[in-house]
Amino acid sequence: MDQAFSPKQASVFVTGGSGLVGAHLLSDLAGKGKKIRALKRKHSDLSTVKKVFGYYHKDPEQAWADVEWVDGNLNSPDFLRKALRGVEVVYHSAAMVSFDPKDRLKLFDINVGGTDLIASLSLRGGVRKFCFVSSSASLGKPEGVSGYINEDTPWVTTDDLSDYAVSKYEAEQRVWQIAGQGLETVVINPVIVIGPGDWSRSSSRLIQAVWNGFPFYSSGSNAFVDVRDVAKAAVSLTESHIHGERFIVSAENLPYKRLFDLIADNLNRRRPAIKVPGFMGEFAWRADWVASKLSGKPPQITKATVASAAKQYHFSNEKIRSQLNMDFIPLERSIEETCRRFLEDRYSPS
Ligand SMILES: NC(=O)c1ccc[n+]([C@@H]2O[C@H](COP(=O)([O-])OP(=O)(O)OC[C@H]3O[C@@H](n4cnc5c(N)ncnc54)[C@H](OP(=O)(O)O)[C@@H]3O)[C@@H](O)[C@H]2O)c1
Repeated sequence: MDQAFSPKQASVFVTGGSGLVGAHLLSDLAGKGKKIRALKRKHSDLSTVKKVFGYYHKDPEQAWADVEWVDGNLNSPDFLRKALRGVEVVYHSAAMVSFDPKDRLKLFDINVGGTDLIASLSLRGGVRKFCFVSSSASLGKPEGVSGYINEDTPWVTTDDLSDYAVSKYEAEQRVWQIAGQGLETVVINPVIVIGPGDWSRSSSRLIQAVWNGFPFYSSGSNAFVDVRDVAKAAVSLTESHIHGERFIVSAENLPYKRLFDLIADNLNRRRPAIKVPGFMGEFAWRADWVASKLSGKPPQITKATVASAAKQYHFSNEKIRSQLNMDFIPLERSIEETCRRFLEDRYSPS
């Protein structure tokens, strides 16, 4: 069936708008006179996006009116061709996030195939600037259990990588190939994103897990960033003259233990007290494991999550700080504000 598009021309197209990062990206873009088109799927739940607009806009309804939602799929060339008509700037944030080995084919289909398609059609459709939301998962990692990571750390394929990490890496490679054919591109590689969203999905699950009394912590550390800074970095880079570059988007490096303690303190819950080496994952998605443990469903511990749990990587944000002169929201503030939103949702009557 043909998707009905509004006759008004959109200048910006956003994918993944119903997710944590995409919702904040849309909120950042809205209310500034831009006409924005956003991809959603038929079943996508927009309640979180509405909530996010409510956080940041004096007149959320008016900002909301700037967004034209279109139902479609990343793997449909016909839909994407129409959706991209007249569009100058694309923010591609949609991705499948899963660590379930059963999802392997879907992961590559959506993350690699979908990214390849939207980037190729953006090139052919004359899009002026393409912003790809990649991940710290697609950055090269040093050998061993600790080390310094920047945008140039070489990628090494090892058998303890998750399918998700490989799919994001391959997606980014496709984007760079298409950029090489003339599509002006910026890539952001966010670390674990902290922010208010749907508490049952993506990295927002971390807050839910601590609330539910998750008792364990690992010896590893990772890097974290406020979702508002992810949106700000994407918009600033896309609106700059910079292209052909990737940027780590990270506020601070922190041991998991410190992160969980901060969340627990802000929620007034017990801090995790049992140190267990080697099974809390490197990325927030590993909160899947937490959720499955708490729900009594089979855990999804994979070779990749086991391998990454105790690693102590240090992600550099030097490049984006120097090129955009960007300051980041301190993590303590980010966690405090995110936990406050969680408690508001928890105790609000609706
Ligand atoms: N959160 C983090 O810690 C983090 C860190 C680094 C990088 N990232 C990257 O940031 C991006 C957004 O992540 P997020 O945290 O916002 O995840 P999220 O909350 O789970 O949102 C994922 C988004 O992708 C959409 N999507 C998934 N499959 C799709 C498909 N086949 N067609 C169209 N849309 C599809 C989802 O739509 P539905 O609502 O319909 O499911 C949703 O809007 C991803 O590219 C992710 O790799 C996230």
